[in-house]
Amino acid sequence: MTAAHSTPRTSDHDWWRAAVVYQVYVRSFADSDGDGVGDLGGIRQRLPYLRDLGVDALWLTPFYTSPQIDGGYDVADYRDVDPLFGSLTDFDAMITDAHALGLRIIVDLVPNHTSSAHSWFTAALAAGPGSPERQRYLFADGRGVNGELPPNDWESIFGGPAWTRLPDGQWYLHLFDPAQPDLNWRHPQVRAEFEDVLRFWLDRGVDGFRIDVAHGMIKAEGLPDVGFSSMTTGRRQSELLGKGRLPYFDQDEVHDIYRAWRPILDSYPGGRMAVAEAWAETPQRLARYIGPDELHQAFSFDFLDATWSADSFRKVIDTALAESTIVGAPTTWVLSNHDRQRHVTRYGDGEVGLRRARAAALLMLALPGSTYLYQGEELGLPEVLDLPDALRQDPAFLRTGESRDGCRVPIPWSGELAPYGFGPAGSALSWLPAPATWRALSVAAQTGTPGSTLELYRAALRIRHEHPALATAAGPVTWQEAGPGLLAFSRCADDAVLTCVVNLSGAPARIDGYGHPVVASADLTAQDAGHVLPVDAAAWFERR
Ligand code: NOJ
Repeated sequence: MTAAHSTPRTSDHDWWRAAVVYQVYVRSFADSDGDGVGDLGGIRQRLPYLRDLGVDALWLTPFYTSPQIDGGYDVADYRDVDPLFGSLTDFDAMITDAHALGLRIIVDLVPNHTSSAHSWFTAALAAGPGSPERQRYLFADGRGVNGELPPNDWESIFGGPAWTRLPDGQWYLHLFDPAQPDLNWRHPQVRAEFEDVLRFWLDRGVDGFRIDVAHGMIKAEGLPDVGFSSMTTGRRQSELLGKGRLPYFDQDEVHDIYRAWRPILDSYPGGRMAVAEAWAETPQRLARYIGPDELHQAFSFDFLDATWSADSFRKVIDTALAESTIVGAPTTWVLSNHDRQRHVTRYGDGEVGLRRARAAALLMLALPGSTYLYQGEELGLPEVLDLPDALRQDPAFLRTGESRDGCRVPIPWSGELAPYGFGPAGSALSWLPAPATWRALSVAAQTGTPGSTLELYRAALRIRHEHPALATAAGPVTWQEAGPGLLAFSRCADDAVLTCVVNLSGAPARIDGYGHPVVASADLTAQDAGHVLPVDAAAWFERR
């Protein structure tokens, strides 16, 4: 098992630049009270595991008071913990322990919409059309003779119209589920409220925020039509992080919000940061979210979307590195998250998918910048494709038939039977069932097992932290011409050179001249003075 790292890699203030951030999907990470749902107590118990894994920070998905229509991305009270996940006291205990172990905590902020159970929305419903209470959301009269048609042609990202009509005749906007009404960010009370929410969590010690739908808060004046609908064209207006110019995304005025937030973050010690889940049409437009007067980072999802080929990866890596020069912040590398099919499955599932996922992990962890890992990827978990429909809870499933539940199945920790130690001894529940094959993938089953995916991640994270060539957020990536279908690049610091080689050629490849291997995703064979790298494998070589 690797030791905790005690020395920060970058100055305290810039810790996020080279950080490995582990995304905790709270309801599926660890359950301390046996109700089948993960909670803050469960995270607290498992902090030593995360410290030993070698990550720097955790990003926690929403744990606030919520009816849980969209897994907590429907917040009813931004300043409290949902009883499902514990209490504010549990949060304080968890963050205190995390900090004591050298782990930073990033929390999710959901400013584009509230839950329909939020007191502002229930007040708006009660107060009726034309009331000041309705001004904090986007209520509008409908079109048609009797207002029976939605105010415009906008569509929900979860499918169907983005407007719902109330019995009093007015419509309200929800870019996501009807239970997630969009806020009116042109209203001063909305701005003041979220500035206060930021302070509330900063005062409790959080190290940063992940901003949900960071590009969505401002809608174009007059709420103009998009001009086409999926009903008539079969083409959806927008998907989660889709690309296209839309009147409800990436409006210029959204930057005023972040310019107001940055001084708040900067007024706290220790480098409090924010990472945007933002889509923008071009790298130049994405760059506008980042900088000394706005946010620190924005997720780059192109790496996640790369297909399994050397050309595809090389292209997205080169583009991302060029973008990071434009934005002045290191790239954020991501392979999986709670909204996307797990990459073992995207890369072909089964043995092939796992081999590729392990190789992709070594590729990602050798690149400069920060990395966001999604819980369970260190175990090589695949997507669960055969969940019974009756158990699926993703609100998008009901509207589009597409479900994100398969990447949200609770983590297997130990034991012979589901839910594999997810809850306390004897608890038989987990809100989604883990498949029988996950017994062999549990943390306990993989710990100390040579060649396991967990030990691969532990080794790679330890080397990434300790090796001078990798321990920095910056540093050029020098491509090596290793042969067709091979990706090879070096990073160097002082007199140490570390070269990452990935074999996407479809045949075993002979690797020579990069020094001795320090970690590999599959067994290397020594041959003469070099090595043979198997198909769909990656290795790091070192030369000093
Ligand atoms: C993005 C989140 O990652 C996703 O899970 C959620 O459904 C939407 N934003 C709406 O909040």
